[in-house]
Amino acid sequence: MIGRRGFIGLAGASVLAGRAGRAGAEEGQGFVQPLPVPPLLDVRDHGGRLELVARHGSHRFAPGMAPVETMGYSADYLGPLVRVHRGEPYRVTATNRLDVPTTVHWHGLLVPSHLDGGPHHFIAPGSSWEAEMVVDQPEATVIYHAHPHGDTARQVYRGLAGMMIVEDGTGAALGLPHRYGIDDLPVVLQDRYFNVAGGMTYLDNGPARAIGMRGNTLVVNGAVRPLARVPAGPVRLRLLNGANARTFDVGFEDGRTFHVIASDGGYLAAPVPMQRVLLSPGERFEIVADFADGRPAVLTTGRDPAGDVIGMGGPRGMPGEPSLPGPLLGIEVAADIALDPAARLPAALVAPVPLDPATAVERRKVSLDMIPNHDGMRGMGPMMAINGRVYDMHRIDFTPRLGSTEIWRLTGNRIPHPFHIHGAMFRILSIDGAPPPPHLAGDKDTVLVARPTDILLHFSQPTDRHFPFVFHCHLLEHEQHGMMAQYLTV
Ligand code: C2O
Ligand code: CU
Ligand code: CU
Repeated sequence: MIGRRGFIGLAGASVLAGRAGRAGAEEGQGFVQPLPVPPLLDVRDHGGRLELVARHGSHRFAPGMAPVETMGYSADYLGPLVRVHRGEPYRVTATNRLDVPTTVHWHGLLVPSHLDGGPHHFIAPGSSWEAEMVVDQPEATVIYHAHPHGDTARQVYRGLAGMMIVEDGTGAALGLPHRYGIDDLPVVLQDRYFNVAGGMTYLDNGPARAIGMRGNTLVVNGAVRPLARVPAGPVRLRLLNGANARTFDVGFEDGRTFHVIASDGGYLAAPVPMQRVLLSPGERFEIVADFADGRPAVLTTGRDPAGDVIGMGGPRGMPGEPSLPGPLLGIEVAADIALDPAARLPAALVAPVPLDPATAVERRKVSLDMIPNHDGMRGMGPMMAINGRVYDMHRIDFTPRLGSTEIWRLTGNRIPHPFHIHGAMFRILSIDGAPPPPHLAGDKDTVLVARPTDILLHFSQPTDRHFPFVFHCHLLEHEQHGMMAQYLTV
């Protein structure tokens, strides 16, 4: 699917790589392959068991492309759509069939730290991790992904990520579209770099560390420019940014309005009408779009605003284009897909649980730092740190009190950084002194910090000192190189 012009650009110097990406996007608006819909793995249908096997694979991103080496969970690339139910225990068996250690982290699940699968929780090659889980949090779309310290970015890039849904019946009761694969679609947004030899490049050089690994091709659920066939009515798209580094600016090509119904931690108070929504790595937004008019549509992304900070084409030695815009997903309204007569967009969703900033017992500053090395952005690139300190697995940075709330002021330098925290949800109190827009007013675990952002966190999960919870930049190359810190609740 990378056209001839794309290959010429890719074959040339990396300064041409940006052009290659754009050529790829220009080349025909054809959406030929169907949107891959991962198999649904509802733990209820499996006797309360969730078995995932991290393994190597080989995957073709488009019909005309050569298969490339990938990784996946019980799949060649990405993993099944896992559905768990609030309050219903399930048993996880995560098996590592890779040749390197891995972990399985539940990004957005509120579970005690020994179940979090974070950077300390290695599963050795050939072995399994068994864990008894029970989730007690509102209905939400979360992510599971590899998080082994030192290798997270590469493993996620190769494909070790998937979507998970926590259900408690709220969406169905509200009448929201909920027929998986029909009017309720997972949409995992990524970018990948395909090289002239037909392989999928992962780079860990200075420039890739500085701005993260960026691609020359946009990918949805592991497919280049796929096509979704939908009924002529309301359709729910669970948007998940699964890219290592880039932010997506998602909307429809025709500018139609859609409604954001949920963010990272679950439903908003009411649907928020929008034409474009920004998703930084690790963020989720569920939207409902209406296709009752029968017109086809194209989901697209604009530029990554961080790309504009960096400048066009990226630093030398960096493949791809830092902010590649273009079409993501074609949508065709299909008369043969029956409408769910009950599916609708309700006027109100879920009233937020009150969380009062006056209850905060501590205020902290968290600065997401890129500290220039003596050779600036060249060589190994800048040093990645939080509050001036590079991540240390053996240092506890904060010790919030279990059950308490705190206010953190998030800041960052050089480029916007997607802040993410394990084991806690937060509410955005203000961005640059102003209240957040309504789609950012719900429970969150990830927020793009482009300006000083005050958040109110609730620490609900106990920790085991062997497995501290981390918080980090979700630009995965930043995380991997030290823009991370950790806490224990006490
Ligand atoms: Cu999405 Cu620390 O992870
Ligand atoms: Cu996480
Ligand atoms: Cu960062």
